[in-house]
Amino acid sequence: GRSYSVTSAFDFNSSLFPLSSSGPGYTSLGTPGTPNFDSGAQSLERNKSLTYLNGLSLVVGLIIGSGIFSSPASVNSNAGSPGAALIVWIVSGMLAWTGAASYAELGGAIPLNGGAQVYLSKIFGPWAGFLFTWCTVVVLKPGSAAIIAIIFGEYLVRAVIGADAVDASPWINKGVALIGLVAVTLLNCVSTKLGTRSADLFMFFKFAALLAITIAGIIVAVTGAAYNKEALSTTWKTTNWFEGTSMSSSQWAVALYAGLWAYDGWDNTNFVVGEMKNPSRDLPKVLHTALPVVIVAYILANLSYFFVLPPETINTSNTVAVAFGSIVLGPVGSLLLALAVSGSCFGGLNAGTFTAGRLIYSAGKEGYLPEIFGTVGFSDSSQRMRLPRRQKARRFASFIADEQGFFYTPIYAMALNAAFTTVYIIVGDFTTLTTFYGVASYLFYFAPVVGLIVLRVKEPELERPYKCWLITPIIFCCVSLFLLSRAIFAKPFQALIVFAFIAVGFPLFWWRVGSRGRSGRKSEQGEGWWKFWKRWGRR
Ligand code: ARG
Repeated sequence: GRSYSVTSAFDFNSSLFPLSSSGPGYTSLGTPGTPNFDSGAQSLERNKSLTYLNGLSLVVGLIIGSGIFSSPASVNSNAGSPGAALIVWIVSGMLAWTGAASYAELGGAIPLNGGAQVYLSKIFGPWAGFLFTWCTVVVLKPGSAAIIAIIFGEYLVRAVIGADAVDASPWINKGVALIGLVAVTLLNCVSTKLGTRSADLFMFFKFAALLAITIAGIIVAVTGAAYNKEALSTTWKTTNWFEGTSMSSSQWAVALYAGLWAYDGWDNTNFVVGEMKNPSRDLPKVLHTALPVVIVAYILANLSYFFVLPPETINTSNTVAVAFGSIVLGPVGSLLLALAVSGSCFGGLNAGTFTAGRLIYSAGKEGYLPEIFGTVGFSDSSQRMRLPRRQKARRFASFIADEQGFFYTPIYAMALNAAFTTVYIIVGDFTTLTTFYGVASYLFYFAPVVGLIVLRVKEPELERPYKCWLITPIIFCCVSLFLLSRAIFAKPFQALIVFAFIAVGFPLFWWRVGSRGRSGRKSEQGEGWWKFWKRWGRR
């Protein structure tokens, strides 16, 4: 069969860097002003280093973040009963899994960097890829960053100031969320190294928090040594687990969006395809282990919550882990858990800022966005950084500075991302934003998966190293469609805003791409993209 071998202008290699071990090719932003349309291919060749286990920890690390510590309230209160809540966690996990399996097939059939942007361009035309990029820049990246920042704020305020402050005014949380956002953005502006080093550091927190909760829950369940006997007996022994289950499909949709948020990130695996030693064997293997592992971990964590906490607490608190910690281990426990979860969120925010910066940077290079966003802060690459003379200062500087010195990072791109994120933090809260984000993201997960089916019909002979069962994308599409249609009833305003943003994308596409014609493109960087289009575009 035929296979694709061109590369995309969107080189996402660098975006992987924060979570994988360092390699020489990862950090490069490309030298400004020189075409780098084949750099993707080069770095792919250079960095085929990820094994199955690397891929697994990468994906699991990408998925686990804020959600399992914050979604339970929204899931439980909308599902109506603990049993229904567990079903929501299973269904949303399975949905993520079917989506990931579908993306694994796409990743094998179209082995280019860039994920959905490339699949959409290839299957439906460049306008679809553009719309995806546009929505990623204005909705998906800043929306997800805002959710994580808000959870970061809530946990930190609870840990440091106390619960009263959280309940007194949402603005205290939002203020802390904004401070976190600014800190993360500055950190990533200073140098790529600083961003990636902090990613390594914060990686640890999420596993610590999740493990602590699960182990404590198991101990409580096994020993029956309930710290809250009443809670244990009401939820675990006597209560009917399905009593109060919601009958409203809109409520179920909102609960599912909150669950899906916790599983979000499964699509990121497709950005690592190029780095894997044996992608056609390992990518599906990674996904088919990662998703079940995360699903089981989340179910266990939720059972732990149920064993320890009274339902009212789970239903109303965005910071279940704090309540959990204080019941199991007292004030010290709640402080430790709160710190661990805010560390986990900080790490998630960091990774998101890093990738958003690179994505907006490529979009700027591509001419999708004003040129300034495709430039780095300090771009005089001829002038290597002069390291300070004194030993200690020298060592410190080389620990955090990039080869090119400081601020050789896409600072304008990251500033833009921070600006959008700020708006979402100010206007949104957790449930509103997860629904908003869910509508936008599932629209853009849905489209490539429909594309998968289209591609099977249109190009049956195309080489597909991994083929998922046909039922997988079909299930994914049906459930996504249900979710999207329900959202319109459950949260019409959020859905409307998403559609408005997408609608704005159409004239923008014409303005930034359509009107310049094939030869009049804005940047050299676009070369790979247009080459790709000329070869494989509408034939
Ligand atoms: N699942 C993650 C969490 O619970 C969110 C991942 C954010 N999305 C992404 N594409 N990076 O925090």
